[in-house]
Amino acid sequence: METPNLRLGVIGAGFVGRAFVQLLTDPSRQVALVDGANATLEIVGVAVRDTTTPREGIDPSLLVDDPLALAAREDVDILVELAGGTDPTRSWIETALHRGASVVTANKALMAECGTELARLAHDNGADLLYEASVAGGIPIIRALRTSLAGEKINRVLGIVNGTTNFILSQMTSEGRDYAEALAEAQALGYAEADPTADVEAFDAAAKVQILSSLAIGTALHGEAISREGIAKVRAVDVDFARRAGYVIKLIGVVERVGEHGLSRRTHPALIPLEHPLAAVHGAMNAVFVEGDKSGPLMWLGQGAGGEPTATAVMGDVLHAARNRASGRHDVPFSVDDRLTNVDEGDLTSVYYLSLDVLDEPGVLAQVAGVFGRHEVSIQSMEQSGFGSEARLSFLTHEARARDVSSTLDELDQLASVDSIGACIRVIDGGGA
Ligand SMILES: NC(=O)c1ccc[n+]([C@@H]2O[C@H](COP(=O)([O-])OP(=O)(O)OC[C@H]3O[C@@H](n4cnc5c(N)ncnc54)[C@H](OP(=O)(O)O)[C@@H]3O)[C@@H](O)[C@H]2O)c1
Repeated sequence: METPNLRLGVIGAGFVGRAFVQLLTDPSRQVALVDGANATLEIVGVAVRDTTTPREGIDPSLLVDDPLALAAREDVDILVELAGGTDPTRSWIETALHRGASVVTANKALMAECGTELARLAHDNGADLLYEASVAGGIPIIRALRTSLAGEKINRVLGIVNGTTNFILSQMTSEGRDYAEALAEAQALGYAEADPTADVEAFDAAAKVQILSSLAIGTALHGEAISREGIAKVRAVDVDFARRAGYVIKLIGVVERVGEHGLSRRTHPALIPLEHPLAAVHGAMNAVFVEGDKSGPLMWLGQGAGGEPTATAVMGDVLHAARNRASGRHDVPFSVDDRLTNVDEGDLTSVYYLSLDVLDEPGVLAQVAGVFGRHEVSIQSMEQSGFGSEARLSFLTHEARARDVSSTLDELDQLASVDSIGACIRVIDGGGA
């Protein structure tokens, strides 16, 4: 039987797009690619903003400047969207799907905003919509959740899914830097953007949590906001306390089943015990830790960003979509479990690390302890450090409700002997209680 030829339109020739085109045209990979796709793959156009800039490894005659026209071309079987952003990107993807072309994308923002609708559109038109590279770059976690773990009940997913923040926190931990120094270093090395908001305020991680949640638990992808806290308030003294207490601070994304149909999705910094596998994920690496009902704990580790690692995930999707097309089929979209409801985050319990900047005078500790007691937050351990204007009280609580911790902090904030609340960070799987 003759091997079919499938045509690809690629939008974007930046970090990921260029690496993808180079992979696809690498002569040493051709046999494996034809084998994986069950077809030969041909790029018919690469859309960019500026067609005059030379792109290493890309034939200049392929460059076009109209992504919508490329998406609409009848001879494009698979559209590979590697431009990013939600507008007008959505219209390019919808145009391709409407005419039955499959779409492969690395676009977490778009998938988190309208993934359910796009997946439905793909299905209605007999096409695939695949987005492996949208979460944790080169780590093949989406297909693992979608296929290998399809029959498993997932109770919790913990992810270090943002390399920039993991790099910053790693530098704070290993080099003793404060937040501003570590951020500046991340920017100088190209790990952080000039405007780092999307990373350090955890917008990027929150979109990835949404996508993981849809696959692990069955939530819809329609731009719902989830509980989000970034790392900008983490101080060197918090990192130091954590280290001495046997923890490391990481920004984690959490998807957690609570009871049968309750759900918590959130991102926040957390103290992670040094013996937990996620504690060993350093620098810009990503990891996803999955707890299945019967599988027990599983973890994937790898490069969450970078053109080449991310392009391998894109390639995996392209080969899958090609194989499907060559055999006249497509994947069914992920199903949405309508019974799931977001729990009240105030009801969730955790061990907490709390730190207070206090006046250096007698009686302060007794006052503070009284406030904890009134709100039923019990103290597991306490450390008094610093002198004068540097005086600080740091606590690890026993398991406490978020609502009670929050009311404790509100009352502490009113005390004349408390200068400021320095930190309130949850402890994951840690100690006591
Ligand atoms: N970089 C990573 O490590 C990574 C990891 C995981 C996922 N992703 C995702 O992959 C996607 C691409 O990321 P990237 O880092 O490769 O981005 P990038 O380096 O900024 O490249 C974006 C490309 O898209 C083109 N483009 C953007 N808007 C366009 C428009 N309106 N018309 C035509 N072309 C347009 C740009 O053209 P010009 O070159 O002419 O400006 C550029 O070639 C994003 O969704 C991102 O979130 C990236």
